[in-house]
Amino acid sequence: MYDKVVILTGAGISAESGLGTFRDAQGLWAQHRIEDVATPAGFARNPDLVQAFYNARRAQAALAQPNAAHLALAQLQSSFPGEVILVTQNVDALHEAAGSMSVLHMHGTLAGALCASCNHRWPAPPELSSNSLCPQCQSTAARPDVVWFGEIPYHMDRILSDLETCDLFVAIGTSGQVYPAAGFVDAATAAGAKTIELNLEPSATHSRFDDARFGRASAIVPAWVAELLDERNRD
Ligand code: OAD
Repeated sequence: MYDKVVILTGAGISAESGLGTFRDAQGLWAQHRIEDVATPAGFARNPDLVQAFYNARRAQAALAQPNAAHLALAQLQSSFPGEVILVTQNVDALHEAAGSMSVLHMHGTLAGALCASCNHRWPAPPELSSNSLCPQCQSTAARPDVVWFGEIPYHMDRILSDLETCDLFVAIGTSGQVYPAAGFVDAATAAGAKTIELNLEPSATHSRFDDARFGRASAIVPAWVAELLDERNRD
């Protein structure tokens, strides 16, 4: 029935793996100010604070295991006869740990380091600091390779062109409060795709989706994947 599926994931898919979301009552943004830890200006003001924040998140992410939702999406990617494009706003590597081969990390990844001086990228050590040297230009301008507010997300040309040509768009575990990702549903709708939201509760953009399933990702994502594969096998 569908030939090209674009899936967008957010922090909710990793919640049951023990990684905190951003906007829940106990979420990361209840404990830290976005301006302090997730903007270029915050990094310029207090690089040690920002490095410590991401070092702690990197350490926590390294201990996390993929859950049934990540595993179901990896199974979908390997079994679906059409194309499955997996886009994530998450900076953890749980999709890869579940076996997903190609993941578009639009907000970057904790696994990467980026030189703010020469733009060189390399695998991040467990801890980055104000003294960490760029292996290419030797400057002390190393930062986490994550996208901060005010910066342009990665892979946007590729994602927008996939949205223009998909026939199904699915958003999983994202609150729909951060653009451009929150606008992907509109791009998919404009392309004539069917749109589905899978989330714990209705997101800020839920009225713009054709369909929704609410519940924990570890339950509703495997169920939706099984349905999609069944449907496709019956065609
Ligand atoms: P949010 O924290 O804004 O939203 C998480 C969503 O997941 C909420 O809608 C929750 O209801 C839902 N959720 C929580 N637990 C769940 C579960 N077990 N199963 C399914 N859904 C669950 O996180 P994002 O939407 O990913 O960007 O946030 C988007 C961006 O805002 C992040 O990438 C980050 C942040 O600021 C940057 O730092 C640039």
